[in-house]
Amino acid sequence: MDTISPLQATKPAPNMPVNASRRPGEPSRFVHNTWYVAMFSSDLERGQMVHRTILNEPVVFYRKEDGGVAAMIDRCSHRFAPLSMGKLLPGDRVQCIYHGLEFGADGQCVKNPHGKGTIPPPLHLRSFPVVERHTLIWIWMGDKKADPATIPDYSCLDNRPALHVTRPGYLNVAAHYELVVDNLLDLSHISYVHVGILGNADTANADIGVDQKGDVVAVSRISKNAETPGILKMMSPAGFERGDQWNTISWYPPSNMILEFGASKPGEPKEKGTGYFAIHLLTPETERSTHYHYTAARWNVLTDDEQNAKIRDKIYEMRTFAFAEQDVPVIEAQQICMDQPEKPLRPALLSIDAGPIAYRKVLDRLLSEEG
Ligand code: FES
Ligand SMILES: [Fe+2]
Repeated sequence: MDTISPLQATKPAPNMPVNASRRPGEPSRFVHNTWYVAMFSSDLERGQMVHRTILNEPVVFYRKEDGGVAAMIDRCSHRFAPLSMGKLLPGDRVQCIYHGLEFGADGQCVKNPHGKGTIPPPLHLRSFPVVERHTLIWIWMGDKKADPATIPDYSCLDNRPALHVTRPGYLNVAAHYELVVDNLLDLSHISYVHVGILGNADTANADIGVDQKGDVVAVSRISKNAETPGILKMMSPAGFERGDQWNTISWYPPSNMILEFGASKPGEPKEKGTGYFAIHLLTPETERSTHYHYTAARWNVLTDDEQNAKIRDKIYEMRTFAFAEQDVPVIEAQQICMDQPEKPLRPALLSIDAGPIAYRKVLDRLLSEEG
């Protein structure tokens, strides 16, 4: 039974010139002393070197012989060739492809094959604290001491049956990370941009609430006795056509989110329903591009494994379609529109912007604390 409406892509954006960097004088809005997701654990195999640009810094990642992850600047101190083009050597060392300098996992230069082999301090490279947790590789880009206790709780991904978690998804979005956070914390767009698959006209008038605990901002939208979106119909063996639905998205500063999405039969408690945790992990690449990692983990699974395999793939396909073909074209076009005028624009806000306003206040404070 396929209960999903036909997928409707966002219509293409007008052909507009792209501005790849921030405007002159525009302040950087990166928080450095925090954890960012560099990639999924499964993205980094032994023997590989993987490059990621994070907060405008080139970083190379590789697995050490003990299986742990090393991360250092992906730019040789000699003539600036990327180390990720070089070779991994025994002893967790990296050899530069260009003139053979060798570096340890802590970024220290350990061998200069030229002249007398001296190693002056400028040859050493910066390395970064890395923690592997919740099937993700986290990196700390700041200069303050990294505290792994502050990594957000994504334990819903730990030790889950394979059929209950969708495969890792990744998109590179040509926009500032705050525009992607705005999009995710604005649940009202679901009824318009994702009509049919994640929302519909019944959910457009749902009440939206904003709640803040410490620095974590949560935006909720509850719809009572509304038409059940297609994906949730598939996840219920009873296949209820109408239900009570809830979406609660929590933002962990500066750019990681988790959405609890689900439905139950009208009037039944939430615990009797079903749904999934939708994981959204944003990491600024540059001022105009964002790494977007995503996956989803189901909760209170009510269907059998044959159906679970189909649902797992369907959730992945639908979410990938929703982000890549519906959200991202709007966000990237929005970025271009914002970059066209000489002066920064100020949005004319609506009541639905309460979530984005709340998280920006926290973000502004964290940015000013970093100076
Ligand atoms: S650029 Fe790396 S050794 Fe010369
Ligand atoms: Fe969306």
